[in-house]
Amino acid sequence: MAAMSVIGIDFGNESCYVAVARAGGIETIANDYSLRATPSCVAFSGKNRILGVAAKNQMVTNMKNTVHGFKRLLGRKFNDPFVQKELKHLPFKAVQQSNGGIGIKVNYLNEEHVFSPEQITAMLFTKLKETSETALKTKVNDCVISVPSFYTNAERKAVLDSAAIAGLNVLRLMNETTATALAYGIYKQDLPAPEEKPRNVIFVDCGHSSLQVFACAFHKGKLKMLASAADSDLGGRDIDAILAEEFSNYFLKHYRIDPRTNPRAYLRLTTEVEKLKKQMSANSTKLPMNIECFMDDKDVHGDMKRSDMESLCGHLFERVEKTLRKCLEDSKLHHDEIYAVEIVGGSSRIPAIKHLLEVVFGKTSSTTLNQDEAVARGCALQCAMLSPAVRVREFNVTDVQAYPIKLLWDASLGEDGEMEVFNSNHAVPYTKMLTFYRREPFSLKALYKGNIPYPDLYIGEYVIKDIKPTAEGESAKVKVKVRVNIHGVFTVSSATLVEKKDGAAGEESNEEQQNQQSTGESEPMETNPAAAPSDGNAKQQESPESPRQNHNANVNDNQKGEECEGEVADKKDGKKKKVLVKTIELPIEVFTYGYNQSEINNYTEQECKMVSQDKMEKERIDARNALEEYLYDLRGKLSGGALTPFVAESDCSSILRQLDDLENWLYDEGEDCNRQVYVDKLNVLKSSSDPIYHRFTEHEERRGVIENFTRSIIRARKAVEMFQGGDERFNHLTEAEMNTVSQAVNEKQSWLDEKQSNLASCPLFRDPPTRVADMRKELQAFENAVNAVINKPKPKAAPPPSKEPAKNDGDNSKPPEENQQQGSSEDKMDVE
Ligand SMILES: *[C@@H]1O[C@H](CO)[C@@H](O)[C@H](O)[C@H]1NC(C)=O
Ligand SMILES: *[C@@H]1O[C@H](CO)[C@@H](O)[C@H](O)[C@H]1NC(C)=O
Ligand SMILES: *[C@@H]1O[C@H](CO)[C@@H](O)[C@H](O)[C@H]1NC(C)=O
Ligand SMILES: *[C@@H]1O[C@H](CO)[C@@H](O)[C@H](O)[C@H]1NC(C)=O
Ligand SMILES: *[C@@H]1O[C@H](CO)[C@@H](O)[C@H](O)[C@H]1NC(C)=O
Ligand SMILES: *[C@@H]1O[C@H](CO)[C@@H](O)[C@H](O)[C@H]1NC(C)=O
Repeated sequence: MAAMSVIGIDFGNESCYVAVARAGGIETIANDYSLRATPSCVAFSGKNRILGVAAKNQMVTNMKNTVHGFKRLLGRKFNDPFVQKELKHLPFKAVQQSNGGIGIKVNYLNEEHVFSPEQITAMLFTKLKETSETALKTKVNDCVISVPSFYTNAERKAVLDSAAIAGLNVLRLMNETTATALAYGIYKQDLPAPEEKPRNVIFVDCGHSSLQVFACAFHKGKLKMLASAADSDLGGRDIDAILAEEFSNYFLKHYRIDPRTNPRAYLRLTTEVEKLKKQMSANSTKLPMNIECFMDDKDVHGDMKRSDMESLCGHLFERVEKTLRKCLEDSKLHHDEIYAVEIVGGSSRIPAIKHLLEVVFGKTSSTTLNQDEAVARGCALQCAMLSPAVRVREFNVTDVQAYPIKLLWDASLGEDGEMEVFNSNHAVPYTKMLTFYRREPFSLKALYKGNIPYPDLYIGEYVIKDIKPTAEGESAKVKVKVRVNIHGVFTVSSATLVEKKDGAAGEESNEEQQNQQSTGESEPMETNPAAAPSDGNAKQQESPESPRQNHNANVNDNQKGEECEGEVADKKDGKKKKVLVKTIELPIEVFTYGYNQSEINNYTEQECKMVSQDKMEKERIDARNALEEYLYDLRGKLSGGALTPFVAESDCSSILRQLDDLENWLYDEGEDCNRQVYVDKLNVLKSSSDPIYHRFTEHEERRGVIENFTRSIIRARKAVEMFQGGDERFNHLTEAEMNTVSQAVNEKQSWLDEKQSNLASCPLFRDPPTRVADMRKELQAFENAVNAVINKPKPKAAPPPSKEPAKNDGDNSKPPEENQQQGSSEDKMDVE
């Protein structure tokens, strides 16, 4: 079985990159169009799906069925104002699904289909997976996928669902910010030692649709996020929109056409202004913009210079500055503590933004990283670290929690009923253990606290079930583990009932009592971060950031309903009392975002069906293309081409007629048939053309065989002559032996002469009376017969003394020598 590969996927709103970690290092993979960027574009037709570059290429002619910009829709509801705003700019139709989610309506297989953004994303992931598998010639499952650092639980869960539908095993959802920082840090040889002051770097990633700014502290072998700030809805596309608006107004005034009324024209305009924007970054003079045959057959001209653009987009640059300042403030860094300001993402190249960076951070920016590929490379590195398949240098990555998370519960028992479990800039992944005393099932609600770029603070509700009072009628002790996992997703990872065993009654430890008293009935107790997570993925436990040991945990809560002996140290007298505790894993009912397992299975099945539909369609198209190609090739070769001499004139015109008919059929009713129909037609065609090709190849190969044959005869004849001349090379042979040679020479010479004359009188368009294969056979037989004689070894006069004695030598000095040889060959094997 081929080795598993690990990949990193930069999942962008516009395009994706895939990088692979291999023994040789990290490299970015090219797709089926030999491009590194695969557009985040999925299109539908009557026969198949069209993914990536091909989808983008047909966008203008299939706008309504070409889906792009869907990354921004993931994990959101249809009536989310942000979604409504996005949909305004997107050419496809979207509706509200019965669960409130977004349904993207397309025409696929000649019927209407509704797909969720998660399903569409899964299709893109399928494409990326295929691209990787083709490039790496191996199966790909394990991956790390990047997400914007500002993604909330719902969006993260949506990406995970999409990956699951595409059959990808996500070892980590990695913040784009963190991936970039890792790609930067891992190759730096001169990072400060752990006890020295860190190297603080600011990264500014201004992309197509969002801005992320983050501060990161580097030491040798590790990085720690200090702060991050983002404007989740500010990017290059906003500048494009403003420029497009400006030019639309201009064209309306000067040409009386409004591109805003024509989606196709507007799309062209956006492409053109994007180009202009890039030119303006390099050139501050007035630059022209010309679009030929734009609308109503009109050619349009306009121009703009950089300073115009800057004043039009002033309010956007203010928002950029605000985000930069927020990151600087949160990081608590002073200008002189900043080592470098690194820019990534296309829009960071805009001079106005570069200028702002200097103003805010007091440093000119640098571009150490490959702007397009840093995120994918960082993800591939992380994937390699998390996977046993590839070895890479370890690099510890400590991320921070962007948004504080609080828990709510029924406060009717006189307690607070609210607690902030993860504060802002808390390190993640992280587990906390909370203790509750309860008589009956209860529920916890998790919510974000404060501002998030998502319309709902709600994360989920977790009902802890099967709780009853203890035998003594007291509240049961329930330990609940809450966790922000490696994907940045909040989970309640387990709930455990802790019971004292009867046998240990009365032996309750002081510490346990103290806990109970100090925290009070039903008061949640925050303990140290818990031990390694119990929720499955062993790889998470191995991760460099796996949480620290929990010293308070004295029960093994990975075991379901099993007894175990907990040891509680009594610090006062230094003695240890044994307390028998029984822990029971409690069921948790979860109400949160995303698909449940049965939905994922359902969509996975649908995805697989579509994949095989695409495969069938590809095979069908390939068969049609093969037929078409064969047709044109054959026609060329028959009409005055290489095959013309090998077909009788009347046959030729009949085949050419056959080809014309076939061509007409291909573009008419044969436009759209099953694969087998094309295969059959090709076979019929080949039955006419194969004999012609056969005569052609016979003719081509014949000359060489005859040459070889002739050479062989000459060689044998020469040997006979030498023998007759008494040449010492052959003087060990007998006259009779040599006679067989000269007989064979004469026979074959006349055989060959006869065949050649037959062949010469046979027209090229007739099947040759003698086949090349027969000549070869004849030649082979001749050579064997001749060689048997003339290659006969001469008897050895006297064996040279240094050489090993001949085999029939029976003297007894041989065995030791053999032994020696055996010994030495064994030695060799040992070395290998
Ligand atoms: C990285 O983290 C692991 C586990 O937390 C630790 O054992 C290791 O020493 C750390 N390495 C560095 C270079 O800090
Ligand atoms: C800037 O653009 C103008 C107009 O196209 C051109 O004439 C000039 O050479 C360009 N300058 C640079 C530095 O590229
Ligand atoms: C990045 O990802 C983590 C999960 O690894 C998430 O909890 C956190 O909010 C993100 N960090 C930043 C700086 O946005
Ligand atoms: C999964 O979700 C679907 C749709 O919300 C629901 O109909 C189904 O009962 C759920 N299945 C399970 C096993 O929870
Ligand atoms: C599976 O998906 C189809 C199509 O979206 C839907 O009609 C059906 O209800 C789904 N079934 C389940 C169990 O989710
Ligand atoms: C002729 O002989 C050479 C050398 O033995 C061989 O490589 C070549 O293929 C032969 N040509 C044909 C047409 O059989």
